[in-house]
Amino acid sequence: MRKFLAYAIPIILSLAVGMIGSTIQTSALAEWYPTLLKSPLTPPAIVFPIAWTILYILMGVSIGILVARGDMSVVRLWLLQLLVNFLWSVGFFALRSPLAGLITILILDVLVFAYIVYTYSISKGAAWLFVPYMIWILFASYLTGYIYLNNDTNINSATAATISKQTYSMTTKTTTYTMPPLPYNSDALEPVMSKETIDYHYGKHLKGYVDNLNRLIAGTPYEGLRLEEVVKQSDGALFNNAAQVLNHTLFFDALTADSGDIPSELKSAIERDFGSLEQFKSEFTAAATSLFGSGWVWLIEDKDGKLKIISTSNADCPMRKGLNPLLVLDVWEHAYYIDYRNRRGDFVKDWWSIVDWDKVANRATKDLRDARQD
Ligand SMILES: [Fe+2]
Repeated sequence: MRKFLAYAIPIILSLAVGMIGSTIQTSALAEWYPTLLKSPLTPPAIVFPIAWTILYILMGVSIGILVARGDMSVVRLWLLQLLVNFLWSVGFFALRSPLAGLITILILDVLVFAYIVYTYSISKGAAWLFVPYMIWILFASYLTGYIYLNNDTNINSATAATISKQTYSMTTKTTTYTMPPLPYNSDALEPVMSKETIDYHYGKHLKGYVDNLNRLIAGTPYEGLRLEEVVKQSDGALFNNAAQVLNHTLFFDALTADSGDIPSELKSAIERDFGSLEQFKSEFTAAATSLFGSGWVWLIEDKDGKLKIISTSNADCPMRKGLNPLLVLDVWEHAYYIDYRNRRGDFVKDWWSIVDWDKVANRATKDLRDARQD
C-alpha cells in the first residue's frame, strides 16, 4: 500500500497541477494565443495536452521510484520544479506575458537538469524518466523565446499602451473597426462549413482579432487609418491582428451557398496564366494542403495584372507587398477542425463548392483581358 501511494500521490499531484495549468490556458488559447506570431515548428494544438499528460505521468513515476525506496532527498527539488512549471502557465497564459513565460521556463530548464544530474547517482531509471520532459521543455523554451522575440509584447502591456496613448494624444482619433457583415446566414454553407464552425471562426476568432485590433491601436499613430493602411504600415501584435481582420474579411466575404460559374473574363485570365481552370485548382489545392502550420493561400493579381498563387504564413497578407488579393483560403486549423478534424485536404476539396466567383472577379483592379502576357 505504501509503495502504491509512493507512486500514486506524485502522479496525481503532477496531473492535478497540469489540469489547473490547462484551465488557466483555456481562455488565452481561445483569444490571445492565436494572435501571436509563432515559430513554424509549433506543433498542432492537439499535441500539447497529449505530450504534457504523458510527461506528468513519467514525472510522477520518476519521483515515485525514489520515494518507494524511502529516499526523500530529491522531493523538494521535484516539488520546486513542479511549482515553476505551474508559474510558467501563470506567467505566459494568465498574465499573457511571453517575457514572464520565458524567464520561468529557463529557470525550469535549470531545475530539471539539476534533478536529472542529482537523481542519476541514486537511480538511473528515475533520471532517465525525466529526460523526455527535459527535451520537451527545452523545445518549449525555444517556442516561448520565439514568441517573445517576434511579437511586440510592449504593445500588449497596459502600461505601454497608456504611455503611448499619452505620447500620441494630440493625434488620437476615435475610429473603431467593426465586424465585417456576413453576406449569408451562419448555416447557409453547410455541410462544407457548419453553423458551429461559422459561430466559432467568425463569431469568436474573428471577433477576437477585431477586439484586439481596437484595443492595441488605441493611442498609436495608426489610429483612424484605413485597415489596409494599418496592415501595410504596422508590425508586431498590431499587425497580426489587423492583418487577420483583413484576411478574414476577404475570406468570409467571398463565400456563398450559390457558387455559380466563373465569370468569363476571370476564367480566361486563369487559363492564360495557369493553362486551364483544372490546372489552377490543382496548383491552388496543392499549395493549401502542403502549407506547413497556420497560414493562407491566395490567388493574387500582381502589378502587371498577372495572376499567381502564393502562400503566406500566420497573419501575413499579400497587400503588404502591393499585390492585389482576389481569392483567399484560410488554412488555419480553426477554419476546418470542427467539421473536418485533421483532414485539411477534404476541406480544401469541398471549399471550392462555396467560392463566390463573382466577388473574386470583382476584386480585379485591372482589365484582366488586357493583362500583359509573359
Ligand atoms: Fe481563420
